[in-house]
Amino acid sequence: MTAHILIVDDNELNLKLASTVLEKEGYQTSTALNGKEALARANKTPPDLAILDVMMPDMDGYQLCKKIRETPNLSNIPVIMLTALSNVDDRLKAFEVGADDFLSKPFVPAELRARVKVLLRHLDARTESTTDRTSHKIAVFSLRGGVGVSTLATNLAAGLSQLWEDESILMDLALVNGQSALMLDLSLRNTWGDLTKIPEEEMDAELLEQIMLRHPNGTRVLAAPRSAIEADQITDTKVNRVIELLDTRYPYLVFDLPHDFRSTTITALDAADKILLLLSPEMASVRAAGMALSVFSELDYPKEKIDLVLNWNFQSQGLPRGEIESALKKEISIVIPHVPDTIVSAITMGKPPILDEIETPLRALLEDLSFHWSEASQKKKRPENPSEIWQRVAERARKRAKKSS
Ligand SMILES: Nc1ncnc2c1ncn2[C@@H]1O[C@H](COP(=O)(O)OP(=O)(O)OP(=O)(O)O)[C@@H](O)[C@H]1O
Ligand SMILES: [Mg+2]
Repeated sequence: MTAHILIVDDNELNLKLASTVLEKEGYQTSTALNGKEALARANKTPPDLAILDVMMPDMDGYQLCKKIRETPNLSNIPVIMLTALSNVDDRLKAFEVGADDFLSKPFVPAELRARVKVLLRHLDARTESTTDRTSHKIAVFSLRGGVGVSTLATNLAAGLSQLWEDESILMDLALVNGQSALMLDLSLRNTWGDLTKIPEEEMDAELLEQIMLRHPNGTRVLAAPRSAIEADQITDTKVNRVIELLDTRYPYLVFDLPHDFRSTTITALDAADKILLLLSPEMASVRAAGMALSVFSELDYPKEKIDLVLNWNFQSQGLPRGEIESALKKEISIVIPHVPDTIVSAITMGKPPILDEIETPLRALLEDLSFHWSEASQKKKRPENPSEIWQRVAERARKRAKKSS
């Protein structure tokens, strides 16, 4: 992977000098002449590192750095400040606004190369572990609580394991009060909390293997921590590192997300191939979905990355589907009907309805949905030894096709 470096300086010659040095090293660079342009560029394609000149008209390098730190999906990129000033106060100010390093101007090319290399060390690890196959990542999300996010995420992860007879991962990122492990009746032997004290660079796949809980059907669960204090210590860098480590090793990652846009949530949403945006047929929920959609569009997520899922988590009269679709200007992809007793008892029993032994309409729906949200190329081929779920899904699809012809 080629690291991408954003260089910001109001002097074009300086831009040219820095980008030439870095491109010779094999980095990809982009440049901006002022803070505003830099932010626009970075928001569009977040760089792996930014180099900022301090003295610029309008927005100076300090202000720009501060803005970068306040922008959720940019807050963690390494920043080097280029300063013509060599006094201590200015250097302290650079650190105060969140810069990682600084260089005095005019810089010595070898020094620039060395500093950049140190700050991009974490990317090397990623390049090493990259194989052709990466996992298919599905994020289940809603800005409003109680609409069935955890229920869908849990059933989907368990369903994918069973459908493809492989281990899929359920990552509970509802860090403060996540219930995924409980929903699968797994005791909280290990959780995200065990990762709080381990620096990212010391984390490896083996460690995660030990920390993830194991459901008898193969589903692995990275459970939410036991305490809110531990939850606060899980940073987006940590979440990113964990996703990276699992990415080439497991076919599916399912994220059970909290109802907010904290940075760990955005990290997962960014990484996801598909976002299932859940809503129930009531006004507040539709409004929350509308807000989420506008954030997704600000984050430049392609429209097809998001599937709207309407979940009838209550029984009484709800808003009609057509009204919701026109309010949100987006089609609903899937409707989940109200199933009062089964789901609730399944939750208290720690058994997701997709793993019911007996055929129920809900189990059938969840099986079909696990297939529906499977990775496209995997869906195209019949497995050599298809699982029972796979056979049932295929049989139902055949019947539906027959009916409609
Ligand atoms: N289709 C449905 N029919 C009936 N009840 C449902 C349905 N979907 C979800 N529920 C119930 O709604 C409740 C909330 O579900 P769940 O915990 O999955 O939602 P959540 O969005 O993760 O909520 P939280 O805010 O607690 O994270 C549960 O008791 C669940 O059994
Ligand atoms: Mg939940």
